[in-house]
Amino acid sequence: MAQLHHLLLLLFLCTIPAESADPLGEFCNTDTNISSSSPISANIGQLLPQLVSGASLNGFISTSYGKAKNQLYGLAQCRGDISSNDCSSCIQDAAKEIRKRCPNQADARIWYDYCFLRYTTNDFFGELDTSVGIFYSNVEDVTDPETFNKKLGALMDEINSEAVVPAIANKGLGKGKTKVPPFVTIYALVQCTRDLSQLSCAQCLATATGNFPNICNNKKGCRVLYKSADPLGEFCNKDTNISSSSPISANIDRLLPQLVSGASLNGFVATSYGKAEDQLYGLAQCRGDISSNDCSSCINDAAKEIRIRCPNQADARIWYDYCFLRYSTKDFFGEVDTSFGIFYYNVEDVTDPETFNKELGALMDQINSQAVVPANKGLGKGKTKLSPFVTLYALVQCTRDLSQLSCAQCLAIAIGNFPNFCNNKKGCRVLYSSCYVRYELYPFFFPLDSQKSLANTSMANYRSIVSKP
Ligand SMILES: *[C@@H]1O[C@H](CO)[C@@H](O)[C@H](O)[C@H]1NC(C)=O
Ligand SMILES: *[C@@H]1O[C@H](CO)[C@@H](O)[C@H](O)[C@H]1NC(C)=O
Ligand SMILES: *[C@@H]1O[C@H](CO)[C@@H](O)[C@H](O)[C@H]1NC(C)=O
Repeated sequence: MAQLHHLLLLLFLCTIPAESADPLGEFCNTDTNISSSSPISANIGQLLPQLVSGASLNGFISTSYGKAKNQLYGLAQCRGDISSNDCSSCIQDAAKEIRKRCPNQADARIWYDYCFLRYTTNDFFGELDTSVGIFYSNVEDVTDPETFNKKLGALMDEINSEAVVPAIANKGLGKGKTKVPPFVTIYALVQCTRDLSQLSCAQCLATATGNFPNICNNKKGCRVLYKSADPLGEFCNKDTNISSSSPISANIDRLLPQLVSGASLNGFVATSYGKAEDQLYGLAQCRGDISSNDCSSCINDAAKEIRIRCPNQADARIWYDYCFLRYSTKDFFGEVDTSFGIFYYNVEDVTDPETFNKELGALMDQINSQAVVPANKGLGKGKTKLSPFVTLYALVQCTRDLSQLSCAQCLAIAIGNFPNFCNNKKGCRVLYSSCYVRYELYPFFFPLDSQKSLANTSMANYRSIVSKP
């Protein structure tokens, strides 16, 4: 099951709502039923006081309690703008209430205006989760939706970028206000859980804000309480089956920690482990625009997940938006590999394909020439304005083991496949083992463009195609 996270986003108009000690909502995962006499239930009893004291002290805590299959992971966080007394009393209520509302579940979450608390037996720390969302909207509509939405959009941009400033400074919190002349002021607040990286926070806020048109449309006040960094795909080469007791399998387990530490340190590693026919070659690389925290957490996930998804293959690859990891008994370093590809395209078409394709082609040329410059470490990114309101964003990246020529070759193949898989689509991603190409009509790379985008960033809007040799 996808692991879960959340974001807390509150928005008020004119008046701060009455403070209430009632929870805004809870989620009891009924696929994780336990009996009240189980060891997990006893461990929840032990974990909760730790969450209460940790969050009361620092406004945030993520910790775990117990061992093996009874181990629990817990997180508690207060809104960054409240007093430590309010924080402490909110978390105490949450700890009591969650046991009443979810007495028999190992995975439970509860949301209040001032705090949030969750626990589960899965290690969810650092993972983005917008799978469960609670939305509140005021029943009254605003009188001038156009001006309201424009002002709101600009304000959300401003505070979202405040929230993603590294944790120490803003602790995931962004808040602000803006005037809608003549009499009205909009107040808004957003917050990410503090275990999230900068990128995951930005992603979560983008998803939440992107849901405004669906849920909060023109309402005087709205909150979104909440999303997921699942892999985009994997390739387990079924012609390289091995048993889990084989020496190669043991070598994979040795190689993976080296890939994790190397990529976390430098954003890229290509290394090998083992000898003779059991020798393994491994490569891991992060997208060049992301922070080292985001990189490290992505590669850690990739190293875990690839063994789950390809438990019995010596040649395996896994793609995430922010990183890529592969290993094989074949020495693949420096070789262009576009044999297996995953394409994600937006289901929506652009309105003016002719102009769009001309601009897209020009932008791709420009960023390809960046990517092949050795100092850029395989990365090229840029944007171009299609109209006063629409901007096209694109990013390409080659794995850093490739020569300049091979990089150019991989990108040419990817872009050459646009007419087949991305034809006139509003957004598209090409994932090869040697390069990554993506374009969207909304900002998706760092540094984040503050320009507002209400484009549909939901993965539900994308379809994937796999191309095989
Ligand atoms: C878990 O328990 C709830 C009642 O507490 C029940 O409705 C639900 O069907 C149970 N789920 C499973 C998977 O057994
Ligand atoms: C490898 O194992 C998979 C199942 O994990 C099986 O479907 C496939 O046929 C096997 N391939 C070969 C070449 O034996
Ligand atoms: C985004 O796309 C999803 C899936 O197609 C759709 O359900 C949702 O309403 C769209 N949201 C917006 C803001 O258009």
